[in-house]
Amino acid sequence: MASQTQQAWIVERQGEPKDALSFRTDWPVPSRLAKGEVLVKVQAAALNPVGYKLMRSLPNFVARRPIPAEYDLAGIIEDPNDSQFSKDDSVFGVLHILKSLKIREGALQQYARVPATYLIRRPQNITPIEAVGVTLAAETAWQALFDCAGFEAGQTVFINGGSSSVGAFAIQIAKAKGATRVVASASGENEELVKSLGADEFIDYMKQPLHEYLAQNPPSPKFHIIFDAVALKDPSLFTCSPAYLAPGGTFVSTGSIQGLRPFNLVLRTAFAMFWPSWLGGVPRTYKNVSLRHDASALEAIRQLLEEGKLKPVVDSVYEFKDVLSAYERIMTSRAKGKVVVKVDS
Ligand SMILES: NC(=O)c1ccc[n+]([C@@H]2O[C@H](COP(=O)([O-])OP(=O)(O)OC[C@H]3O[C@@H](n4cnc5c(N)ncnc54)[C@H](OP(=O)(O)O)[C@@H]3O)[C@@H](O)[C@H]2O)c1
Repeated sequence: MASQTQQAWIVERQGEPKDALSFRTDWPVPSRLAKGEVLVKVQAAALNPVGYKLMRSLPNFVARRPIPAEYDLAGIIEDPNDSQFSKDDSVFGVLHILKSLKIREGALQQYARVPATYLIRRPQNITPIEAVGVTLAAETAWQALFDCAGFEAGQTVFINGGSSSVGAFAIQIAKAKGATRVVASASGENEELVKSLGADEFIDYMKQPLHEYLAQNPPSPKFHIIFDAVALKDPSLFTCSPAYLAPGGTFVSTGSIQGLRPFNLVLRTAFAMFWPSWLGGVPRTYKNVSLRHDASALEAIRQLLEEGKLKPVVDSVYEFKDVLSAYERIMTSRAKGKVVVKVDS
């Protein structure tokens, strides 16, 4: 690596990706690694909704911009810096958001400085393009199921958003870890995909509101866990859940309150989440998953990948120069799996 500058997509300011991002060819290659950090030659980066959501909502002084965009990456170890890795190891992982903000690093650049514990060796049976979108989405699914909802083998699970990145991993993880029945929703055109991931039953949420369908066709036994992987704004799936979620069951969402509109739904959600059942609230537990670094979850996910029990779903792949088109795709909320950017063509 001779050059001291590199190409990078930099978040310069708050706003929509097309206004907030600039493509820089003079961004410095990280020159100093702290203890525990490695230098990665990035092969690919994957987009996540949190990327554009934070671009829109985080003020510049909080995000300390300019800063390279995005979090999920796959690449080759350029400088192992006395870590568990060797030069040229193939790795994938995620720069967790708070860490990214703190060390001012991101995935959409040719060389990234990353704490070694946030990375793991890539199994040989998957490519960098497949591996790159795994970490953030699969760790979220893992933490929602196990840490928030206490998932155990033998349980039944409903996943809202089976074709989303998080939902696709949640279906596969639940099945691999012994769920007796996984039911998942998406729009009708994604039925085949959702079933191919292992869902035992598919519900088209476009035909009828889910809470109505499930109340009219309650599962027997009732679900132990409902995982809303797409973070619905309308809380009806939770407020009606006693009809189809077992007593003691958990409803977990990837983010119940996102923004302040529509305000009536924000109020209904807050009420549903916090109002105690002895005062007439919903007699079921509501939790939000909030992704945190967990090296053991990443190791377990890597093992499932290696065993072929977890298959990454890639929606689309973009060249490095076409990052703004990649953002357009993910912002449709219609991607079927991961939107990936090739950093090293
Ligand atoms: N809390 C956390 O730590 C955390 C972590 C990761 C993600 N998240 C949040 O979780 C959400 C999902 O993230 P992601 O990366 O999985 O998104 P994504 O891959 O971009 O999701 C797109 C998918 O969502 C499906 N979808 C959209 N509206 C739906 C609805 N009403 N019902 C069912 N499916 C629907 C679409 O399927 P159809 O076209 O069939 O509708 C599409 O396949 C985002 O809001 C993200 O910000 C939170």
